Amino acid sequence: MIDQTKAALLEYKAPGSFEETRYEKLHNVIVNNSSDGSIAIAHCIAKLILAKQKKKETCVLGLATGSSPLSVYRELVRLHQEEGLSFKNVITFNLDEYYPISKEDVQSYYHFMHQNLFNGIDIEPENIHIPNGEVTPEELRASCIAYEKKIKKLGGIDLQILGIGRTGHIGFNEPGSHLNSQTRTITLDHLTRFDASAAFQGIENVPRKAITMGIQTILNAKRILLMAWGTYKAEIIQKAIEGKITDKIPTTYLQYHKNTTLILDTEAASELTRIKTPWLVSSCDWNEANRSKAIAWLSERVNKSILKLTDEDYNQNGMSDLLAQHGSSYD
Ligand code: GLP
Repeated sequence: MIDQTKAALLEYKAPGSFEETRYEKLHNVIVNNSSDGSIAIAHCIAKLILAKQKKKETCVLGLATGSSPLSVYRELVRLHQEEGLSFKNVITFNLDEYYPISKEDVQSYYHFMHQNLFNGIDIEPENIHIPNGEVTPEELRASCIAYEKKIKKLGGIDLQILGIGRTGHIGFNEPGSHLNSQTRTITLDHLTRFDASAAFQGIENVPRKAITMGIQTILNAKRILLMAWGTYKAEIIQKAIEGKITDKIPTTYLQYHKNTTLILDTEAASELTRIKTPWLVSSCDWNEANRSKAIAWLSERVNKSILKLTDEDYNQNGMSDLLAQHGSSYD
């Protein structure tokens, strides 16, 4: 039932152990498309649920919303309905929820999760936890503290699923979020509200606030899988993987976590150094396509026309082996 090869694809490998990932501080796996990646993630989750069932243990999952995990949830529902995977031993904690928002609201994450996952599986309703967008402002703080406590009481999150927002947020931990942050309220950035505006039929309808697990809450998870699909995530993914740890891009905090894997489709991975300019990382296959790409890149980088590029330019920019193959820049 569980495809072990697919699940094994996401096995954690410590960053810094391989030549080709020189610039990368987060382990990542590049898949052909989001569908392949989602199925691998779903099978990883299923494998953990089954392993925990065998030991008669509960499996605590941290879940995300947004468009990214939709196919993961579809595959989990299929595994339940067609292949009998049971979720009776599963306890879930969702990352975040808009505030204020009613559970009945179709834009609420409460609704999203029931629609896309919970209604299709046999999870016990009392095992589902989603930050409560319906509490009064007076109750809010206590409700966040209780959420955090409940996660700890149940032994912490075994596997946390994450998407990434274009501000670099995880959950709704917007730029500026503290490393030690816990479940709390947060004011959403304009870009986040803009990205949500289609779902709410206009930015003016997107709540200004949300409740989110904190960075620390997320980093306490035993295993983290973050997925990113599409070109519009490429820039922030490059910064998250190759950049320094900074509160300006909260995803970079994952560099502190020693069991995190990012699953990227080829588009989301397209700005990584090893994909965009592989000659800067290690020896490169100098086929026609790479040659043209590299020379055009070099000419733009040093701001010279191709005919004016010198041996020095090639040597200083990771292209000395191309030069060695052809004699000199003139050739
Ligand atoms: C929202 C959620 C995040 C999610 C992000 C990306 O901001 N709170 O948890 O990762 O959206 O959404 P999408 O997967 O649709 O790109």
